[in-house]
Amino acid sequence: MQDHQDGTADARTGAQAGPDYALSDLWYYAAPSRELVPGTLLPKTILGRDLVFGRAGDGQPFCLEDVCPHRGIPLRFGRLDGGEVECCYHGWRLGPDGCLKAIPSLTRDQTFDFSRINVTNFPCREAQGNIWVWIGKGKGPFTPDIDIPALPGGDDLGPIRIFDRQFFPCPMDQAVMGLMDPAHGPFVHASWWWRPKKSAYEKAKAFAPSEYGFTMCRHRPSANSRGYKLLGGAPETETVFRLPGIRIEEVQAGKNRVLGLTAVTPIGPNASEVNQIVYWNVPWLTPLTPLIKHYAVRFLGQDREIVTKQQFGLAHDPPMRLIDDADLPAKWYLRLKWEFARARADGRPFSNPVPEATLRWRT
Ligand code: FES
Ligand SMILES: [Fe+2]
Repeated sequence: MQDHQDGTADARTGAQAGPDYALSDLWYYAAPSRELVPGTLLPKTILGRDLVFGRAGDGQPFCLEDVCPHRGIPLRFGRLDGGEVECCYHGWRLGPDGCLKAIPSLTRDQTFDFSRINVTNFPCREAQGNIWVWIGKGKGPFTPDIDIPALPGGDDLGPIRIFDRQFFPCPMDQAVMGLMDPAHGPFVHASWWWRPKKSAYEKAKAFAPSEYGFTMCRHRPSANSRGYKLLGGAPETETVFRLPGIRIEEVQAGKNRVLGLTAVTPIGPNASEVNQIVYWNVPWLTPLTPLIKHYAVRFLGQDREIVTKQQFGLAHDPPMRLIDDADLPAKWYLRLKWEFARARADGRPFSNPVPEATLRWRT
């Protein structure tokens, strides 16, 4: 990030300004558990790496580099057989750990050292209905030294009520900065059901550093947000952001709780996936699921449309002017990313660069 003389900061996130378009050595959101059907292979591209997901014999998810070590055909075209991946070309078999287990064409008297051949295995974790994958640098083996993002409520969260995934044709940074940007609300999301455009007023929100990110501390949501009022009681909300691009928003009113997870996963330098997952424990909300989903999809769709339009301007690599305080969360995100990349490169512990602060803006 580069500072301009007028006190703004430049946040161009191309190769010249950022460590990489996305960070390695972190957990990325892969898919909701239900998409990984036992006995089937699920291909995905994350951070430019072609991957294939499956479930081992014991049901545990696994993820391998999607290329056969024999003659390079993607493993996705093969099949899962007894928890092993069988390549569609000559039937080589790979275990969930990525190690070669069998070569069907070998005769009984031919010996072959299977331990010489393997494909990269990417560690996977499954929790609260979601599958996370650890994307390390290079070929591995990878040993995660960070926990997957914890959702408050643990196993009591219940099932996923809404899942929505949208393709954002932009670098991951633009998707993340768009999602944490407080100033776009009245312009991008103005609608009768969320908040009327004319109701903008000044707000002050307290922030504190938290694990690999920062938290907008627990507070009463704006009186001009109609969506929250439906929950009844005196709702309180807390929003946590953490690297690589995870936002967890919790709304609580007495026993009633709604939890939203938004996870940005980079596909490549200019392509991202935004996953939106919602849980709740409010029985009367459940019959309204189709309606809530309709609005959740529309809301995220408005974010997608605006960053899609932004790409036409960004193609000319203009300077960007990030101001205080409305753009501070975006600046913090970029600083977190830099610090994470540097700490990894230097082999030292991560030191959170976000200060405790109260930010003020008008929305
Ligand atoms: S290419 Fe996969 S077994 Fe030959
Ligand atoms: Fe938005």
